[in-house]
Parts: sequence; C-alpha cells; structure tokens
Amino acid sequence: MINTTFVLKFSKESLLEKLVHDILTLKEAQNACILAHNYQPGDIQDIADFVGDSLELSNIVTHLPNPTIVFCGVSFMAETAKILSPEKTILLPEPTALCDLAESIHKEDLQQLKKQYPHASVVCYVNSSIETKALSDYCCTSANALKIVESIPADTIIFIPDQGLGSWIQEKSHKEIILYPGSCPIHFLLDPHEISRTWEHYPKAALITHPEANKAVRDMSTYVGGTGGMIQYAGETSFDTYLVATDIGMIHRLSKEYPTKRFILAAEKIECKDMKSISLQKIHYSLLHNYSPIEVDPSVAIAAKRAIQNMMDIQQK
Ligand code: 13P
Repeated sequence: MINTTFVLKFSKESLLEKLVHDILTLKEAQNACILAHNYQPGDIQDIADFVGDSLELSNIVTHLPNPTIVFCGVSFMAETAKILSPEKTILLPEPTALCDLAESIHKEDLQQLKKQYPHASVVCYVNSSIETKALSDYCCTSANALKIVESIPADTIIFIPDQGLGSWIQEKSHKEIILYPGSCPIHFLLDPHEISRTWEHYPKAALITHPEANKAVRDMSTYVGGTGGMIQYAGETSFDTYLVATDIGMIHRLSKEYPTKRFILAAEKIECKDMKSISLQKIHYSLLHNYSPIEVDPSVAIAAKRAIQNMMDIQQK
C-alpha cells in the first residue's frame, strides 16, 4: 500500500526545492538581488540576500551593484528604494502590499498642518507615501527617529503620520512635537491585558516592543525599539525568553539569529497581512515577468529624495 502522507509530503518538499532553485537561477541570470524586511515570512527571509529593518534596507539599496532588486516588503519600502536608486528596476512581487499607516495621511492633511505651524520642521516616518515625503523636511525610521528630531535646528516638529512613534519621541525630547493621528493598527491596538496574560506564563521573559505600539504597552516593556534595535537588544542581553510585541516575522528572524534563546509572540495575532502577501511563488513570477516594477513621478521623487537624503546625512554623522 502506498503511504499517501509520505508521497504528498515528499512531493511538496521537492516542489518547494524546485521553486527555490528556479528563483535562485532566475536571480543569477538577471543579476538581481532579493531584499526582505524583517516582517517577511520565514521562507522568504531564508532565500533573501539581505534581511533587515527599513533603515538597513534603504542604506543597502544605494550600495548594491545589481540592476534589479526584488523588494519583499510593502509598497512604501519599494518606493523608497526606487527614489534612492532610480536607475534600478525595483520589483514589488505583490503590488497590493500596502501599509495602513502610510495610507493614513494625504498631502492635503500635511499642507494644512504646515499652514497651522509655519515655523515647524516636518519629520516624516518612512512609512508614508512619496507625495507626503516630498512635502517633508526630513524622513526618519523607527531606528533613528529620536536622533533625527534631536539633530535638526527647529524647536517645533510636525511628526507624521504615526502617533505611536511620535508620542514615544515626544516623551524623550524637549522639543515641541506636533502629532498626527495616524497609526499602525497592528501595533497601536495591542492589548496590554493580553500581553500581561502571556507574560504570566513566562515571568522571567523580557518584553520587547516596537515604538509604534500604544503607550500602555510601551510603558510595560523591558525594551522599546525598531526591529533592528530588538535584534541588537536580544544579542546583548541574557534573557532565556523574549516576548515579542511586533510582527510575527520577527520570531523567525530572532530565532535564526539566536537559536539558543526562545522568542514568543506577546499576543495571539500580531501579523501584518500585507507583509505576508508576498510568497515564494510571487517572487518567482516577479523575476520571470519583471512584475511589478515601481514607477515614481520623477519631479515628486526629487523632493522626496531630499527628505530621505537629509535623514541619511544626519544618520552618517
Ligand atoms: P522597522 O523600522 O523596524 O523596519 O519597522 C518598520 C515598520 O513598518 C514597523 O511596523
């Protein structure tokens, strides 16, 4: 009798191997590079050339010799890569992979705020559209938001669009920070009670939280920082267990980085569906059919690039 479970399992594994082999062959033939954000599914992280946070991926793009980049992340990330390297083909394997936070502000909202606070500088979280960046003075990521705010000459800062990250900066800076009510639904709606219940099961664990989270969750955390900061923190500290209050993709990233430590999601569902809408099949299709190249309006891109470059200049200091 044929063991169908074995046959099914065997054929599934060999199909997956073939898919990965085909992706790597296409990638090599096109001299392409695969970049993946820390929130990407584990199988994508495993085949990517670089896995990192928003800041690391933005930095890497400009240093890569490859003419084609498959960007496994959400659209604002691929768009930022295109702004920084307009001569490259930037492929986003799933063009509908958006970011609710980036969609939460429109250029008219920012124009209104700028009118209201004419002497303020605008710091725009990279989770934003190209049009919003183009109207901003500086970009920032979660890794450098405080450094950017503290380094710029203005005393009043319009911080858009994330009220989670913005209010975290507000707590740390003496400057006047004008917030915009945008938020990441995944982080901002985290339930501190649910996290407490998880923590009861692992009382000796550290709780590491993304600054996009609400204040109650940030305040109870052992560490607050972007995904790159979390990786560093887990490497520098000696907890056995870390409760992770950010997207589930980080469980794969952290567990791979530190296989002797335990990483547990702090609440049941912390998952960005858009980040998970990329798949190996879509990466294969993307390389095969040059799908879907990011296009930006060059005149808007010049203004947006200025804000990103202003961030990079401060970052390098
Ligand atoms: P990082 O700045 O850590 O890459 O986080 C980006 C993000 O989109 C968080 O929701």
